[in-house]
Amino acid sequence: MKTIDGLLTPRIESENVTYSALIEPKDEVVLVLGNENRVEITEEGITITGKGKDELDLGQSYLRQLKLIFDARLPICSFSFYSPSYRYRGFHIDCVRHFVSVEELKRLIDAMSLVGYNYFHWHLTDDQGWRFAVPGYDRLETISSTRYIYDNNDQKHVHKGFYSREDLEAIEEFSKERGITVIPEMETPGHAEALLSAYPEFGCTGKEIPVQNNWGVFENVMNPSSPELWVFLEKAIAELASVFHGPFIHIGGDECPHKQWEDHQGCRKIMEEYGLKDTNELQGWFTSKASGIVKKYGKRAMGWDEVVDAPSIDKDVVVMSWRGLDGARKATARGHNVVLCPENGGCYMDRYQSHDPWELGNLSYSLPKESYDLDISMKELGEKERSLILGAQCCVWGEKLHSGREMEYMLFPRVFILGENLWLGDRKNWEKMKERRKVLSDITWKLNLVSCPGSWD
Ligand code: ACM
Repeated sequence: MKTIDGLLTPRIESENVTYSALIEPKDEVVLVLGNENRVEITEEGITITGKGKDELDLGQSYLRQLKLIFDARLPICSFSFYSPSYRYRGFHIDCVRHFVSVEELKRLIDAMSLVGYNYFHWHLTDDQGWRFAVPGYDRLETISSTRYIYDNNDQKHVHKGFYSREDLEAIEEFSKERGITVIPEMETPGHAEALLSAYPEFGCTGKEIPVQNNWGVFENVMNPSSPELWVFLEKAIAELASVFHGPFIHIGGDECPHKQWEDHQGCRKIMEEYGLKDTNELQGWFTSKASGIVKKYGKRAMGWDEVVDAPSIDKDVVVMSWRGLDGARKATARGHNVVLCPENGGCYMDRYQSHDPWELGNLSYSLPKESYDLDISMKELGEKERSLILGAQCCVWGEKLHSGREMEYMLFPRVFILGENLWLGDRKNWEKMKERRKVLSDITWKLNLVSCPGSWD
């Protein structure tokens, strides 16, 4: 009798699962909603029982893993597995700083669905590009999708990329089939230079600017008092809402300098009209107005934690706590749902994952163990506040990453580790996790996924 439990990702409840023989997989899998989570593979058939959709999806991903491990066959066996501790298990991919093709994205989404993630947060707009089509706004494709890079010899190079509606639909369908819900993100009111390069009338100065080619935070932001801007934002939100079935649309909100708002006549008029005492409150007004449009199209807005720098915003906005956990503390105290993705708490996977001098990455370090140490339950909070935590997500920003393959390298193995933290919650055990290292590398090898070979702690 051989044991197989060591070969699966670490959410299996049964220990020492054995198998007696290998069989050819059957096409038909019986899915049953029940009060346990179980995979049963017999000569007669395959049954997955799960307490909910997440568990049925995971049961199916176990079958895919087993087929990989046993060279397209399946072991006769039966095992039970845990339910997830958190209902939101997300991964964010920046497709702006460097464009990621539909094919490369599908590869990443497929791999993430195998390791238990269920939300794909798709970063589609920023200063360096606008990457999705909005009907009636053709300059998004001809101008905002392209940036020009000058090398040391002053030679001009082009970086561009754009997703048509068909591309968005292809990703939506592919993700849905794998139990993953897409959250499209359109950055507002900052990180908007690519949009303003094509439509300067949406900005505060009206001046033409190029699509940004540096990394950072830039002064040119959306003008809250521009009626044309709000017409555009509504069309863009309507477009996203009509493609994606999921409940959320992300409206950005991070790193928006207010300098251009300070003495802008239109902005001052709004502030007077609505009794807003400063530009922080003006950003809060902007967030609530954008959230209202998202609601009109049947969805819920998400925003980065700067949205709660304003003293009050629409209560339905879900807050992503990225500047540490203060955003989560503030947002839960005010009754908002939150998703944790602290940049220095094991969630920013564009960071170096080892101290090796050749390591790929940006800004700071995030060794794999940090993704395990993150206390997603935030024990420091009261029970009511903790109940507002939906889960956590990893973020891959693309400034230093030029392809889906490089992103894959940044994700693996850290996503296994954050994934286990999300599934097991307080049951997690670092020593046991480390024992699975060999198994996890076998799985990445079989999937032809590039992964970092560095130390985990
Ligand atoms: C962020 O990293 N600016 C959300």
